[in-house]
Amino acid sequence: MERSPPIHVPVLLTEIVDWLAPAPGKVLVDGTLGGGGHTRALAERVGATGLVIALDRDPVARAAAEQNLAGMSVQLVAASFRELPKVLEQLETPAVDGVVLDLGLSSDQLADAARGFSFDSDGPLDLRFDTTEGEPAWRLIERLDATELANLIYEFGEERHSRRIARNLIAAREQAPVRTARQVAEIVRRSVPRTRDSQRIDPATRTFQALRIGVNDELGALADALRDIPGCLKNGGRLAIISFHSLEDRLVKQAFRDDPRLTALTRKPQQPSEAEIRRNPRARSAKLRVAERVA
Ligand SMILES: C[S@@+](CC[C@H](N)C(=O)[O-])C[C@H]1O[C@@H](n2cnc3c(N)ncnc32)[C@H](O)[C@@H]1O
Repeated sequence: MERSPPIHVPVLLTEIVDWLAPAPGKVLVDGTLGGGGHTRALAERVGATGLVIALDRDPVARAAAEQNLAGMSVQLVAASFRELPKVLEQLETPAVDGVVLDLGLSSDQLADAARGFSFDSDGPLDLRFDTTEGEPAWRLIERLDATELANLIYEFGEERHSRRIARNLIAAREQAPVRTARQVAEIVRRSVPRTRDSQRIDPATRTFQALRIGVNDELGALADALRDIPGCLKNGGRLAIISFHSLEDRLVKQAFRDDPRLTALTRKPQQPSEAEIRRNPRARSAKLRVAERVA
């Protein structure tokens, strides 16, 4: 198969390398392989005597990485990062030196019209990381009643106009099936009053975020990971998490503050520099928190 380089540009790459301090012989986990940018940087530094265990729920991401990272000391695993304890048990690796989670979706997923992550895609609004599991977002829109849909959009999208959006989605689906990302984005845009903010950020952003979090159980996965990953770290091992919205960052902040097994190394989250945001605008909402396992 021909090698196709990833579109995704890794976020806060220097910072992740600095915090996880990859060195020959170390065993690290990248719980969100994506385009493989973080995995590659870590694998280059742990060398042949070390290992990067890289997980992703997305079969497309794993297949691309198999080509792009061939020959490197990387073990690809088809699993959610919420299953890390089980994965490490299967690999007979009791504890690791560090774990990175770079949450959300990759630019490669965003660019894949068939999956509906991008607002102007005429593909079905799927939004699942693993298309073999659970239900696509269009089916959620078809199945939920107005209150359930409004609650989901409010809770996972922090969207003030959730009721109106839900009502309009239901009205539209009564006329014709609502299947594509473009249809949903247009219904949302029509439901939300125009503000100065809506010229900067597409008004569909929060609703798409909510549907994506819902179909992938993203907050459930993060909560499980925050509970279980500290137990997978060696003493002194580090957990670095990059989040992209306040629902995630809040969970990470609380866990790092309250978990007696961890000490937070970042008092405030680290954010990309102006230069990084100029190079890679998708980095702009990234927040990195790091904690260390204590005895
Ligand atoms: C932002 S991208 C990661 C990009 C990667 N760090 C890089 O440098 O190319 C997030 C990836 O995590 C995956 N993902 C999301 N939730 C996951 C989960 N619970 N377990 C494993 N992978 C997950 C997505 O499929 C996506 O490929």
